[in-house]
Amino acid sequence: MPVSQPTVQVINHLDHDYLRQALEHDVTTGLTSSPKWLPPKWFYDATGSELFSRITRLPEYYPTRRELAILRTRAADLAAVSGADTLVELGSGTSEKTELLLAALASAGTLRGYTPVDVDAVTLEAAARRVAGRFPGVDVRAVCADFERHLALLPRDGRRMVAFLGGTIGNLEPVARAVFLKELRATLRPGDTFLLGADLVKDVGRLEAAYDDSAGVTAEFNRNVLRVINRELEADFVPEAFEHVALYDERHDWIEMRLRATRAMRVWLGGLGLGVNFAEGEEMRTEISAKFRPEGLREELATAGFRLRRRYTDPAGDFTLVLAEA
Ligand code: SAH
Ligand code: AVI
Repeated sequence: MPVSQPTVQVINHLDHDYLRQALEHDVTTGLTSSPKWLPPKWFYDATGSELFSRITRLPEYYPTRRELAILRTRAADLAAVSGADTLVELGSGTSEKTELLLAALASAGTLRGYTPVDVDAVTLEAAARRVAGRFPGVDVRAVCADFERHLALLPRDGRRMVAFLGGTIGNLEPVARAVFLKELRATLRPGDTFLLGADLVKDVGRLEAAYDDSAGVTAEFNRNVLRVINRELEADFVPEAFEHVALYDERHDWIEMRLRATRAMRVWLGGLGLGVNFAEGEEMRTEISAKFRPEGLREELATAGFRLRRRYTDPAGDFTLVLAEA
């Protein structure tokens, strides 16, 4: 008998028209600003997600391994303290690390549902199917959505743990981060918890190497946003004409990724009817990745109305996982 594929429910809040409008808005705003910028969520088509997966295996990119190390030793405690029966994961990607949490919740005997949430529909659905295959009987409901816009639309049943792993919180601008935390807090009910992974401030050399690896994978990831714009907005960016830049800004405690034009050029975005000029050497910001200090993180959570229940770091002190409650 052929083995049947596990079925998962997929809820999509990002239909083609919505995505197109949001991309048009972001690209028009970013490319007509001075300096130019682009929001990082557009890195993640299927190719961008695959490049990010390769990044997580690079020797220089420590966050994934560090967070995994914390989860390996603490997942059982997190399951016990939270008592969660439903895991909702924001920016879930391939959901690889999540399996440790799901296994711990299953061992604790509470696990009933898993809701991964991501903008990349392809990676989301593949991950949801894999998880459904590994955890039979668990109700897997994948939601294709933007966690900056659709938090209020996520399923609210069960005693939920909302996980936001990988340090993705650091990719939000500070004001957007505060808004996100407040909005998330407003969706939680008594008994729900929030599990947040955040990268910590450390030696600048290690930070910059993590975002400018010697194999050039992060550079390709960075340039992928131009390929997405070319495809979706009929644009003619020459990605190879842009150099990858990753610098640590000590004043803001964040890594800044940029794309630097190696020559003067004009880019035509047919879908927007917009022409954009780049000067030689002009830099466009494509991502910030904020690094946190434990006390600052606690304060940001408190401001949004969260109370810390647990705080863990890996033995090297590189990365932190916190469990908070409303
Ligand atoms: N949680 C995984 C993946 C991190 S990569 C890990 O820790 O390894 C960041 C993920 O967030 C990607 O899968 C990307 O598609 C998703 N993402 C980025 N911005 C998003 C947004 N605004 N809404 C929903 N998902 C988003
Ligand atoms: C998804 N996010 C946490 C990654 C980070 O480290 O900020 C994205 C990334 N950008 C470059 N490398 C990895």
